[in-house]
Amino acid sequence: MSLESSRIAFERARRSVGAGVGSGLRAAMQPHPLFVSEARGAHVWDLDGDRYIDYVMAWGPLVLGHGDPRIVDAVRDVVTRMQVVGTGHVLEYAAAEAVLGSVPHGERLLWSNTGTEAVQVALRLARAATGRRRVVKFAKSYHGWHDTVYAGLTDADTGEAAVPASRGQSPSALDDLVVARFNDVEMIERILADAVERDIAAVLIDPIMSNAGVESPEPDFLRTLRSRCDRHGVVLIYDEVIAGFRIARGGAAERFGVHPDLSVFGKAMAGGFTQSAVVGRADLIDQVTDGVVHAGTFNGNPVALAAVKATMEALEDPSVYETLEGVSARFELVIGDLLASAPQAARLKRVGSLLQFVPDLDATGLHGTGGLWPRILGGMLANGVAFMPSGKIFLSTAHHRADVDATADALEKVLRQL
Ligand SMILES: Cc1ncc(COP(=O)(O)O)c(C=O)c1O
Repeated sequence: MSLESSRIAFERARRSVGAGVGSGLRAAMQPHPLFVSEARGAHVWDLDGDRYIDYVMAWGPLVLGHGDPRIVDAVRDVVTRMQVVGTGHVLEYAAAEAVLGSVPHGERLLWSNTGTEAVQVALRLARAATGRRRVVKFAKSYHGWHDTVYAGLTDADTGEAAVPASRGQSPSALDDLVVARFNDVEMIERILADAVERDIAAVLIDPIMSNAGVESPEPDFLRTLRSRCDRHGVVLIYDEVIAGFRIARGGAAERFGVHPDLSVFGKAMAGGFTQSAVVGRADLIDQVTDGVVHAGTFNGNPVALAAVKATMEALEDPSVYETLEGVSARFELVIGDLLASAPQAARLKRVGSLLQFVPDLDATGLHGTGGLWPRILGGMLANGVAFMPSGKIFLSTAHHRADVDATADALEKVLRQL
């Protein structure tokens, strides 16, 4: 793979687009972002016509792979009739019913466009319901880039202060944030015991720490969170922007058996189109009829909701999750075996179809990993395999055994050259 056309395209993009990328973190791709001209199934083609096995999967949305015909057909059917209408249409409730039918605690929902927006709505609902102000999140977890939850790592272990993770972020916007440690039962008990005095409205948790190394919650951890939130009147919010519809059809609530009050979904929900939702208790959601403002010109637009409905219908088939588990287990086995012979390079973690290369336990940050990872990343791309800069691996039902085996061949070659 020469990557030459992508290099030239990136140079040109940087003259018109800030940092040359549509979303800042994409600039971390090594040696530069791949410029794609076509994407199908588990593969993307670059501007030179070279094909890559794609484990980026658009950073999460494509559980069914690129261009699933069921989704594309549903979108094609609606897009010629209407695009965005700014009033009611049947897909608003048809897609909502399909989502609520998949999520164990799904009583009602609100449509939004991105995960970042939907997290904001969920927090607003929690603050309105409790009359409290502060939110507990977990160190290193990512919930979108907005000022109130995008926190850096310093002081993360104190269970107290959060610091801005971006220049230009208002430090005062983080006054309402309390940072706890994931899987630390004792710490969360201590923080929530004073929930009233500390003005805590909500706990916001990504139950699998998708952007911070990929972790399973200890069995006691989610149960403790649930019981302490109940006891102290705190709203429990799962951020399932990555986990949702990926680790199980019903997301983390189904997989771990502990139900939150609200879940935020995005990414996989719309199979490659832009849509997110806050899903959960009707009494919380219904506050939008009682003074809680939630708005957005493109919320629930027909094109995206056609995609949501088609995706939900496709995910009803249990074989989707069997296929995903099969290919993910194969990836873990084959690639894990290879890494066992090169332990200095990385090791692998997995929750369902989300995997994470971990080059060095301490190197995993908000986004991105250290160690030998950048060299592996660049080497794999040169050998026809596109991985995420952060070392996350997104698998889909479109990935087959042959893709995993070809990935192993490429990795073996790259590891030999390290
Ligand atoms: C767990 C989690 N929450 C929220 C977000 C923000 O979603 P979006 O990028 O759609 O704004 C992301 C994005 O990667 C995410 O991974």
